[in-house]
Amino acid sequence: MSHTPVVPVLTIDGPSGSGKGTVSALVAERLGWRLLDSGALYRAVGYAAGAAGLDLSDVEAVTRCAQETKIQFRAAGDGGGTRVIVNGHDATDELRTETAGAAASAIASMPSVREALVALQLGFRRAPGLVADGRDMGTVIFPDAAHKVFLTASAAERAKRRYKQLKEKGLNVTLGGLQREIEARDSRDASRAVAPLKPAEDAVLVDTTGMDIDEVVAKVLAVVQS
Ligand code: C5P
Repeated sequence: MSHTPVVPVLTIDGPSGSGKGTVSALVAERLGWRLLDSGALYRAVGYAAGAAGLDLSDVEAVTRCAQETKIQFRAAGDGGGTRVIVNGHDATDELRTETAGAAASAIASMPSVREALVALQLGFRRAPGLVADGRDMGTVIFPDAAHKVFLTASAAERAKRRYKQLKEKGLNVTLGGLQREIEARDSRDASRAVAPLKPAEDAVLVDTTGMDIDEVVAKVLAVVQS
């Protein structure tokens, strides 16, 4: 009898600014596994909806947009990270803004939008393994994942990290404003009815407050190897 081997998945969920994105990319590289940045999918749909002039509260129109938007990830090469192409346009820089994050969070609360993105996400599970970064990777999309991590950090620390990142990019932001935005987004993500931000019961909780990236990566790799 032939046996299809199960492709291993490591889910890394947590709020924005917990270090998930950076940690997931580094862990995927170390393991030689594929990476799914699920937040980029919600950001891409929010961006496409905005670009099409849709009302972001119009569930029907935004759902159609989620079903029709073409999202591609392309390696930039030379350590330049991954570019996100939305309907043929390189939207990587636009997707990183707080405006895109807020739009993503608004449309991500719609069950039909989440449903429209399920098959795309499952398609990332290919040998030799997958690191899935998001909010509901361990709870909804890959509940059977062998390894699950939930990263957290205090809102103050997350705002500080984001502030540093955005300042380096030359953006004009304030620490207080960022912390308020982060707290508003967290509470919207945690309180929504569908796929709320919460750790899977079998997830290992890692509080990254005061830890540097290398320490967090080592801790997550230890979870996979345990
Ligand atoms: O992780 P990132 O900040 O890019 O995610 C942007 C937004 O997309 C989140 O605030 C959240 O509302 C939504 N999201 C989600 N489920 C995921 C990933 C992201 O609802 N798996």
